[in-house]
Amino acid sequence: MVRTAAREEPPLPRDASPRSYLMCPPEHFRVTYSINPWMDPTKPVDQALALVQWEDLRDRYRALGHTVSVLDAEPDLPDMVYAANGATVVDGRVLGARFAHEERYGEAEAHLDWFRSHGYPDISEPVHINEGEGDFAVTASYLLAGRGFRSSPLSHGEAQEFFGRPVIGLDLVDPRFYHLDTALCVLDDAADEIMYYPDAFSPGSRSVLEQLFPGALIADGPDAARLGLNAVSDGLHVLLPQAATGLFEPLRERGFEPIGMDLGELLKGGGSVKCCTQELRRPARAVEAVARG
Ligand code: ARG
Repeated sequence: MVRTAAREEPPLPRDASPRSYLMCPPEHFRVTYSINPWMDPTKPVDQALALVQWEDLRDRYRALGHTVSVLDAEPDLPDMVYAANGATVVDGRVLGARFAHEERYGEAEAHLDWFRSHGYPDISEPVHINEGEGDFAVTASYLLAGRGFRSSPLSHGEAQEFFGRPVIGLDLVDPRFYHLDTALCVLDDAADEIMYYPDAFSPGSRSVLEQLFPGALIADGPDAARLGLNAVSDGLHVLLPQAATGLFEPLRERGFEPIGMDLGELLKGGGSVKCCTQELRRPARAVEAVARG
């Protein structure tokens, strides 16, 4: 069940735009430590199944016409599959990550190396802790920025200065939703359209979200608890955990095409579709060139 504004008009026509994503295979994925409430090192992980589920997501993106680049997994970094945390890329400019937990420190350098060797000219190594797109979300007008569990509030100013976009700081209060991308998803980044779970945020942050996004799709507790908001939209298709069944109809009513994915093994590390997907946002010029070509 999802609370959503009554809509009498037909759904808006939606448009998918081609995206570039960076993903890292779960070749060395394990749950050997616990840095969020989803992680229980006593629960076995089926690594072969994790890989099949991840490949399914990668192949789905490619079938939808998106480009997926692959970052090599490193043996001592079992959380590296959650590629969203490794950097934030807007207009082709890269703000690297700096992780809160020692177990993940090494991932930041692996991502930076990838961007350096792939010709990204504008790369910033951050001063303050930020866990990439885990806590930064890009809408048409803003950079939404989570804090409370991982990314430092100081990283928000750093991101605003680097990207030159207004940053809206949002306080996360429920440890199950320790990254912004576990509680909020951008549905249409050409507009300011999002879905989110209000109870994951402090009262003040909830009120900010209500003011900035009055038409947002509001998720309920059960769908949020299945990480239903850990989703990726290309403007038309919304890939989300298949167990978040309550979100499918409201998405369809808005003209989106929800696509349920099973990433059950990756959920054991506290992540799903979005956590496994870093978006490489190109400069506007490059996008125009693709559209022209
Ligand atoms: N085990 C990882 C951690 O706790 C999961 C990260 C999930 N990624 C995300 N973008 N929310 O850091």
